[in-house]
Amino acid sequence: IIDIKGKDFLTLADFSPDVIKGLLEKAHGLKKAHVSGEETNLLKGKILGLIFEKPSTRTRVSFEAGMLQLGGQVIYLNGQDMQLGRGEPISDTAKVLSHYVDAIMIRTFSHQRVMELAEHASIPVINGLTDLFHPCQALADLLTIQEVKGSLAGIKMAFVGDGNNVTHSLMIAAAKTGLHLNVATPMGYEPNEEVTKLALGIAKETGAEIAIMNNPVEAVTEADVIYTDVWTSMGQEAENEKRMKDFQEFQVNDGLVKNAKADFLFLHCLPAHRGEEVTSDVIDGKNSYVFQQAGNRLHVQKAILAEILK
Ligand code: CP
Ligand code: NVA
Repeated sequence: IIDIKGKDFLTLADFSPDVIKGLLEKAHGLKKAHVSGEETNLLKGKILGLIFEKPSTRTRVSFEAGMLQLGGQVIYLNGQDMQLGRGEPISDTAKVLSHYVDAIMIRTFSHQRVMELAEHASIPVINGLTDLFHPCQALADLLTIQEVKGSLAGIKMAFVGDGNNVTHSLMIAAAKTGLHLNVATPMGYEPNEEVTKLALGIAKETGAEIAIMNNPVEAVTEADVIYTDVWTSMGQEAENEKRMKDFQEFQVNDGLVKNAKADFLFLHCLPAHRGEEVTSDVIDGKNSYVFQQAGNRLHVQKAILAEILK
């Protein structure tokens, strides 16, 4: 039983392992209902506002489609077209939108900005990606691993690449569910220290094992899951050239994945850059579940919306 009615969804760190398991079960149920063509009207009359200050394909379409499938409605708000883009404070925006819609999803740069929005809004706020976290993605990743492997606790996952928002949320997700996670990054690109401390603290309670290293071969050896993300995230475009050099040894290719278990799953939050962080052989190969993973964004977000807007 999960009771998160009226709550914000900013990071998985705010939720107990039981709530996370409950959300995954709910997502599984909603996915089954969707596949069998059942109608759900759980959110009839509710409106979700979606603020985007960075581009998106999956997050926008899965939130919009999910809300419509639940019988609700959506308003897409491009930050640049709002007064926000001309400097209106996020706190005023929060207070105003609270009079019009029932929940807000926001994708932006600083995590602080999302926390400020949530603090001043009287309605739930959902994090659709910040520079620090991408919790909806991590929940979809968990659902995908659970579907393919049948469980989460004890599964060995390796993240190879940048210690970024996706990595941070994966670390929290692993810690909460007892997944073992090796994170391999080039030196200087390790995950945020505070997030690492937080994940290690949670892991102590759940039995998850989380290790940060600089050796991709060590990270993927005997892994059940290999995960990567782009080397240059949104907002880091000016560092692109340097990053391409610094990450050369961290490409997920046939040579690297042969160290994993034969039936390993390849995951990537997408969008992907074939030939950079991953080769076509791997992302388009038989071990890749990236489209099932992307599809699962829809179902986990419907579960979040259904529970917080109950
Ligand atoms: N994975 C993800 O969040 O994709 P978008 O940037 O397309 O939303
Ligand atoms: N780390 C990437 C994820 C995109 C979904 C970024 O922030 O751009």
